[in-house]
Amino acid sequence: MRIRKLTLNGFRSYDRAEIAPESGLNLLYGANAAGKTNVLEAVFLCALGRSHRTSKDQEMIGHGLSGAYVGIEAETNTGLRTVEIKLRTGDAAAKNPKDRKQIFIDRQRADKAGDLMGVLNVVMFSPEDLALVKASPDVRRRFMDMELCQLRPAYYRKAAMYNAALRQRNALIKEAFSDPIDPEVLDMWNVQMARTGAEVMRARREFMDQLSTIASDVHRRLSGGREQLFAFYEPNIDFDERDAEYAIYDALAASAEEDIRRGFTTRGPHRDDIGIKLGETDVKVYGSQGQQRTAALSLKLSEIALIRDVVGESPVLLLDDVLSELDEERQKALMNSAFGCQCLLTATGVESAAKDKLAALFEVRDGNITKINR
Ligand SMILES: Nc1ncnc2c1ncn2[C@@H]1O[C@H](COP(=O)(O)OP(=O)(O)OP(=O)(O)O)[C@@H](O)[C@H]1O
Ligand SMILES: [Mg+2]
Repeated sequence: MRIRKLTLNGFRSYDRAEIAPESGLNLLYGANAAGKTNVLEAVFLCALGRSHRTSKDQEMIGHGLSGAYVGIEAETNTGLRTVEIKLRTGDAAAKNPKDRKQIFIDRQRADKAGDLMGVLNVVMFSPEDLALVKASPDVRRRFMDMELCQLRPAYYRKAAMYNAALRQRNALIKEAFSDPIDPEVLDMWNVQMARTGAEVMRARREFMDQLSTIASDVHRRLSGGREQLFAFYEPNIDFDERDAEYAIYDALAASAEEDIRRGFTTRGPHRDDIGIKLGETDVKVYGSQGQQRTAALSLKLSEIALIRDVVGESPVLLLDDVLSELDEERQKALMNSAFGCQCLLTATGVESAAKDKLAALFEVRDGNITKINR
């Protein structure tokens, strides 16, 4: 995939900006707070329908404005596609909440964020991703979910349905503090969670199986053949020997009493994790800082290969300030994996490791982006 044009209107620090990145490596450089990450965030928004750094869409609207617009034109293996997102706040948005975020795909209004999945493929890589291994489980769950949404567009809807059922079950359980609850209603949510949760768990298992093989290879190279990485799905409910739907249903039924006592649903894929080992050692607990960062890098780099395999085209890479965080050998590995991808890279200066490979150079300053002719 290749982005031909990116347009920002009232998005974060940009009144109006437009860039036409080249294929290959594009460096966006500028001082801290110049607006570099904002650009990558806008691209991520068009690919996944949300920001990578906030769950509050309205934060992305420029201060004092009533709306924001981001548009992307991209060449993909399904042809030339356009994705546009409009964010609204204030009276108009208050009247019709559906208008707070409007998504247009090839100029047609999409009614669900799910329609967006798979239209554009991007991999975002920021310094926080290097903490993937030592972060809390929700960060690793988000890692699986974001990837699955792009690899299998139907996953988005399944996960959303599971989360909706989970919210309903939690609401019911909270009621139990004051009133006895109807066991039939609870059972209905257990069934609903089991049905949708089973699809989430099966998809995650398959995804981790595929990713794991690639990640082991990548990690072996990164560690000079010294370390063997195993990354695997750690479901909160074991379903090795049986059907996932029954396994979840039984676990929910068995934990009902405890759930009511604790006030939330204690079992289910919303508490899944990824296990990461080097040989026999749990890297999350015992790994050195360097081992944890290298394992995280291996997992992220594997995403690129997996998207290439499954989708059949290279994703656009969004590399936010990561080169400065890596030593020379790891920078090289990253640049090798990026080979053949269009890449938007941010840095505070031009003296980055990628300097001699650049296809285009953009200076970011005071809410403006200027292409530098070389
Ligand atoms: N909704 C908004 N409206 C206007 N300006 C905003 C909004 N949100 C963020 N900003 C501004 O955007 C700037 C930060 O942009 P960004 O995070 O892209 O910087 P950066 O170039 O990536 O910096 P760094 O090198 O420190 O990562 C800040 O000046 C911030 O005040
Ligand atoms: Mg930044």
